[in-house]
Amino acid sequence: MQTFVSVRPNPLDRAETGSERMTSITINVNGRNWTGDVADTSTPLLWVLRDRVGATGTKYGCGIEVCSACVILADGTLTKTCTENVANFIDKKLVTIEGLADMPPAGSSGVTGKMLQEMWVESQVPQCGYCQSGMLLAVYALLRSKPRPSDADIDQAISNICACGTYPRVRDAIKTLTGQAIAA
Ligand code: FES
Ligand code: FES
Repeated sequence: MQTFVSVRPNPLDRAETGSERMTSITINVNGRNWTGDVADTSTPLLWVLRDRVGATGTKYGCGIEVCSACVILADGTLTKTCTENVANFIDKKLVTIEGLADMPPAGSSGVTGKMLQEMWVESQVPQCGYCQSGMLLAVYALLRSKPRPSDADIDQAISNICACGTYPRVRDAIKTLTGQAIAA
């Protein structure tokens, strides 16, 4: 089992010491503009989402772009937020797990964000739940490009690390949502 250890300090903490010059930024999160100060614009987006915007559904796992706990949709593209500077997101439309329920059907799959969330509950996919924000957004992105994904499509697209091993439930939930047979 992989253990996630927080080794990367939150750059926003520097703001509390008063040793950094503050910069005002605006980002669009789940359809709303958020404006605030950050210690510097090299701060990874993840910390601004969690500590300033309050979108704490986006999680910190590895901090090195491996686990996908921190993924969001940026202009519709699945994007890791733990290392990339917030300055790179100023002109993009960002969707976090808090905005998934309002997302329209993912391409021709017909699966909305709300349907995805309800299937996750019905299928009891989440266990501890820590990875599931990123997992759900990854599945939404997959269904947009592959409305009826095969096992191989799922294996290739869903690289999120789940320490609880929910992969079979994720696969079954996707298959049920897209009207495909579940392996016995
Ligand atoms: S926290 Fe693991 S990929 Fe970002
Ligand atoms: S890490 Fe617990 S549900 Fe994935």
